[in-house]
Amino acid sequence: MSDDLPTPDYIDTARSYRSSKQITFGGYHKAKRPPEDTELTHVGPGTPCGEFFRRYWIPVAMTEQVTDVPHRVRILGEDLVLFKDKAGRYGLLHLHCSHRNASLEFGVIENKGLRCCYHGWLYDVDGTILEMPAQSAQSRKKLCHGAYPVEEYLGLLFAYMGPPELKPDFPKWDTTQLDGVEMVPYFINYPCNWLQICENTMDPWHTVFLHARVTDIHFGDTWGIAPVTEFYERNHKIYATLTYRIDDMIWVRTQETISPSFSQVGAWWETGREEKYFKRASITKWTIPHDDENCMIIAWRSFGPNIDPEGHGKREEVGVNTVDFPGQTGAEPYEYRQRHPNDYEAQVSQGAINSHAAENLGSTDKGVAYLRRKLRRGIRAVQSGNPLPESERAGEEFLTHVQDTVLPIPPHPADDEQFLKDVTDAVMDVVFQGDSLGGSKRSDFIVEELKKIKYDPRFFHKNHNA
Ligand code: FES
Ligand SMILES: [Fe+2]
Repeated sequence: MSDDLPTPDYIDTARSYRSSKQITFGGYHKAKRPPEDTELTHVGPGTPCGEFFRRYWIPVAMTEQVTDVPHRVRILGEDLVLFKDKAGRYGLLHLHCSHRNASLEFGVIENKGLRCCYHGWLYDVDGTILEMPAQSAQSRKKLCHGAYPVEEYLGLLFAYMGPPELKPDFPKWDTTQLDGVEMVPYFINYPCNWLQICENTMDPWHTVFLHARVTDIHFGDTWGIAPVTEFYERNHKIYATLTYRIDDMIWVRTQETISPSFSQVGAWWETGREEKYFKRASITKWTIPHDDENCMIIAWRSFGPNIDPEGHGKREEVGVNTVDFPGQTGAEPYEYRQRHPNDYEAQVSQGAINSHAAENLGSTDKGVAYLRRKLRRGIRAVQSGNPLPESERAGEEFLTHVQDTVLPIPPHPADDEQFLKDVTDAVMDVVFQGDSLGGSKRSDFIVEELKKIKYDPRFFHKNHNA
């Protein structure tokens, strides 16, 4: 009988959320949170977003985690084992042995490959089963175990987990090849969905409140100044700029997000008070899903005279589940974290998988909306069999655009906000113009052109005292 009843409205939680927005004491209508956006958040094998990730080289572990015993990992909802055989080759295999499913994390590393502890089957790094000891000739089958290619680069191990015939070349990101910069690897685990961690870089306004105004000043006091924020999209990459007016200086900070979940940000010790040009990333990172409800940031922190001449970074604090700036792990006591919330608390507390239908995005959330749209486009392109845009695939030098520039330009007497926007456009124009050059020629060109901006008649106004 009840089968004939129509579905009551209150069971449609998303609709209930929408219709109850202005009801005071209306918790009843919001008691059930609307479900997550599965297209953007679910990453297991065969899901649209999981397939999207599987078109790129992604980091899966730090090199130092792979020792003389196999290293178990969970990536994109798959349990895997990572190892380095005695010949120095890296392998990434499905965790469960092809014979009777014992876990290869208990296997033995050999000169060539990894041997299962249970009945001794021996696996090569490409999944070839080299030995099936004691099996009769009849029962010895030609089998391949699940395997993925691995590349080691600057202390991180990258895997390509997509269809073999679509494997792109391995990219060499420009910021990883700069003179005077050393890339130090680290990772941090998060007990929540990957997207809410990845979105943080495209949420420039959180820095004003979370990092300066609400409880503590985490970095510099100038982070609490309301910036002018702009967004740029170019060659399928998206950029958020934060432009601060600090007395007679203009600080233009550019952060970027590149598919599938790669992003870079400038120095956390930057204050915007001293003239500088085209300073590059202090963090080069990926947000990689372990599964739908767990992920990690796996990354490099940049050290060296080119990025950190005054030595703000603490190399000894960068590594396995640790990094050298506050609030990135849940390691502090709960009450301390309540009184001093930081990135970890804000992002993980959105829930195991954030419910977008329960959010109310506003003008400060343009970057988050941009990122979700871009992801959806990429996910759907993969689903419909379209190739990924060439600019997102590998080249000899994969150009990125993260930067900090601080220009000595005093406030505009009439409309400084518009003035800051115009200066930001001028900075980004120069940064993009450099794309026709490579290596140090590119950065020399960009720095020289950025230095000219303060003399540009558009910005050299009557208050100028340079
Ligand atoms: S279960 Fe691995 S060899 Fe038998
Ligand atoms: Fe932050």
